[in-house]
Amino acid sequence: MPNEFQEAVKEKVKEIQQEVYIKDDLLEKIVGLLLSLRDGKFPSKRPPRGLLFYGPPGTGKTLLMKTLAKKLGLSEPIIIRGPEIISQYYGKSEQRLRQVFALAKERAEEENLAIIFIDELDSLAPRRDLTKGELEPRLVGQLLSLMDGLEREVSKGHVIVIGSTNRPEALDPALRRPGRFDLEIEFDPPDVDERKEILKIILNNYVKDRYENVNFDEIAEQTVGFTGADLLQLVNEALLQAALKGREKINHNDLLRAKNVVKPSALREFYLEKPKDRSNELPSEIVDKIKRLAQEFISHQSFRSILIQRELWHQADKIASTIAYYVSNDLHCPYIVARATWFRSRWFGETERSIRKLFEKIKRLQPCVIYIKGLDAIANPKDEHIHGAILEITSYLDEFRENSMKVLLISSVIQEVDNTTREFFVEL
Ligand SMILES: Nc1ncnc2c1ncn2[C@@H]1O[C@H](COP(=O)(O)OP(=O)(O)O)[C@@H](O)[C@H]1O
Ligand SMILES: [Mg+2]
Repeated sequence: MPNEFQEAVKEKVKEIQQEVYIKDDLLEKIVGLLLSLRDGKFPSKRPPRGLLFYGPPGTGKTLLMKTLAKKLGLSEPIIIRGPEIISQYYGKSEQRLRQVFALAKERAEEENLAIIFIDELDSLAPRRDLTKGELEPRLVGQLLSLMDGLEREVSKGHVIVIGSTNRPEALDPALRRPGRFDLEIEFDPPDVDERKEILKIILNNYVKDRYENVNFDEIAEQTVGFTGADLLQLVNEALLQAALKGREKINHNDLLRAKNVVKPSALREFYLEKPKDRSNELPSEIVDKIKRLAQEFISHQSFRSILIQRELWHQADKIASTIAYYVSNDLHCPYIVARATWFRSRWFGETERSIRKLFEKIKRLQPCVIYIKGLDAIANPKDEHIHGAILEITSYLDEFRENSMKVLLISSVIQEVDNTTREFFVEL
């Protein structure tokens, strides 16, 4: 890529990131592709016809579509929503699709590039083998033939279709063959750094000057498992609570308190985080221990588990992150963070089943470092409702130990854990 072009892409990426925070590399890929098509500089003769944004709800797919439409300097973006095509244009859905493509072709001739955004693509183009309706299979067929009919020579301008979905597996597989949605972009739930950026966007763009004294780092750290949409909800809840108390501005504590109300809706069993070296925030005797434990795991690479005692609860995240940092520097392994309280949440249904799901996934990810926060939420001797959970956990720990799995499990506790569980851990 010529330098000037690269600069232009970077600049556009920065501009977009003021409204929706998507990782640099992903966004550069998307923007680079679209700008090079717009400027007739696409390096190959066969640019993609379709781009698929997929990932869990609330990760910014729709917002990115809208932002791209606004920021790419194309006249009037063409955005359609899958459900709308089906209901609003009922009986004329296929015709509507044809119109949209015809309009895009016209545009492309004038502006070199036209983008058709299809939000919630899965409702328009579900797997044909699984749908009962007769409209959907016809629509899938129509969309496929329209996409296949798109010019692939860039000379006459280019039409690209960007689709988004929370359920890529629900899409008709024919859409994902080469020549259709050629390029798939996965949207992950945000990690701690991304959550910080998203929070800034939400506060600066939506809340504006009605906030004060917010420690972004801390809120980002405290919201493991939150998607962008969850963060938006967190902020709204804080605004509401402050308003009820007659205050105009929200502050740090309002946000922390709102966390008791807003649960991460995209609750998944775990999140991958990027571990950070936080040794400079910890007492040196703890850092020494951490280094030893990390080194020990690196050289043996068989199951180890560390329990961070309740006295260290407030430093537990830093400790876990630092251990994971040392280990993953050497082993290049993932760092998984889970909150034990999730397993008790109604979103998850049964506690035991969700624990099983987590540990089964860990098996497939080894070597890995996993940090379970507040383990006593599912292994507290005083809580009889969770006896089954304790059995489930200890049987996995047993299995991991027996089979010398390459898993380093770190846990922290607020109160205490039952003795059977405790036996598996080295205490810190
Ligand atoms: N990556 C992000 N950056 C900034 N805001 C975000 C991000 N992800 C989600 N949000 C917030 O959550 C809202 C809902 O996200 P949305 O784009 O509808 O998610 P999706 O389409 O992936 O389900 C957005 O309007 C925005 O306020
Ligand atoms: Mg969406």
